Amino acid sequence: MLFDPWNPDFVAHPYRVYDELRREAPVSYFEPTGQWLISRHADVNALLRDRRLGRSYLHVATHEEFGRPPEPEFLEPFWRVIRAGMLDVEPPVHTRLRRLVSKAFTPRMVESLRPQVRAIAAGLVDAYVDKGGGDLIAEVAEPLPVTVIAAMLGIPEQDRHLLRPWSADICGMYELNPTPDAQHTAVRAATEFSAYLKSLARDRRANPGDDLISALTRIDELTEEELAGTCVLLLNAGHEATVNVTGNGWWALFRNPGELERLRADRSLLPTAVEELMRWDTPLQMFERWVLEDIEVHGVEIPRGSEVALLFGSANRDPAVFEDPDRLDVGRADNPHISFGAGIHFCLGAPLARIELIESFGALLDRAAKLELRQQPAWKPGYVIRGLRSLDLTATA
Ligand code: HEM
Repeated sequence: MLFDPWNPDFVAHPYRVYDELRREAPVSYFEPTGQWLISRHADVNALLRDRRLGRSYLHVATHEEFGRPPEPEFLEPFWRVIRAGMLDVEPPVHTRLRRLVSKAFTPRMVESLRPQVRAIAAGLVDAYVDKGGGDLIAEVAEPLPVTVIAAMLGIPEQDRHLLRPWSADICGMYELNPTPDAQHTAVRAATEFSAYLKSLARDRRANPGDDLISALTRIDELTEEELAGTCVLLLNAGHEATVNVTGNGWWALFRNPGELERLRADRSLLPTAVEELMRWDTPLQMFERWVLEDIEVHGVEIPRGSEVALLFGSANRDPAVFEDPDRLDVGRADNPHISFGAGIHFCLGAPLARIELIESFGALLDRAAKLELRQQPAWKPGYVIRGLRSLDLTATA
């Protein structure tokens, strides 16, 4: 099999292809997307930190100067919202936005959420186990991070059902070569989401509460557009990946029952287990970067204006960095996985994601003495954001 992100068999089993890429072709050109695939851990890690690359090039060149077609006009509202958040901009704008948002999203604030996260996880898992199980993704994996991030931002409960569809529609743009339909859907979702958040922020400015949106409205330098873009980013980034780590992680444990038993017997392994599950089957398989100045990787010249695709899933299984990389080891101590990225865009929410994952895996182990797979799960079609459609389990208290 070859690298083929549109082939469901590849999406289900990408790891043998990665082995071959790392061994034979650490840098290879992928014609269908016009990207250079980078498969080794050392290269992915170095390029994420290399300022000659960026998530955007618009701070140094126009589309035309970069040899790219202009953006279709209909996508303008989408990009206006997305580029008002820190993820899709580069310094100096990125530095400014990340610094401002970090004032409100502090490690102390995140740590103070732990009891609340624990209570939400316990409530969801109790209900799940009481009815004997069901789809773990729909009933635990999704609602937990959505509830946490929505509560943290202060989204009223009656509006929370709007968040997942908006977020899923926006994320459709991050798959490779999105269809025109997916693009139009993403534009509509971004526009509605941003308008909703602006109106909520205006309300909080007048009647502040104890939530992150109120805190962000107190940061004068943050424009209304930036505040909405930041909240869209936090809401999307704040749950999509966490949902898929939960699903992929449990599925990994079911395929490695010895490791599941080991974790059940020794709950002190939860922190290393969560890191290992993120390494072994990362939900974010690939991140892209634009090449802003000519670079050379393993003797291959990659000119300015090119795009590289950093294969996180491959980097995480690199035998040069991880001993016995295909083995799931819930006690793996030395685990420099790349699943939260590296460099200036390193995941801002990593501490919160870790709390959510430890609490949700712990709650399920505590409350369900026995968990059994009812049927083989299927993967969703997406490759870049890779997760299961559902995970149907029987849970016995
Ligand atoms: C297990 C779950 C998560 C994973 C695997 C993950 C992964 C990542 C990765 C790989 C990046 C960097 C992207 C790049 O370099 O191109 C990133 C950035 C980011 N993540 Fe996460 N993330 C997770 C959860 C969260 C949560 C819970 C939040 C917030 C509540 C969050 C907020 C962010 C933000 C704001 C950025 C942009 C940082 C910047 O551009 O400076 N993430 N995440």
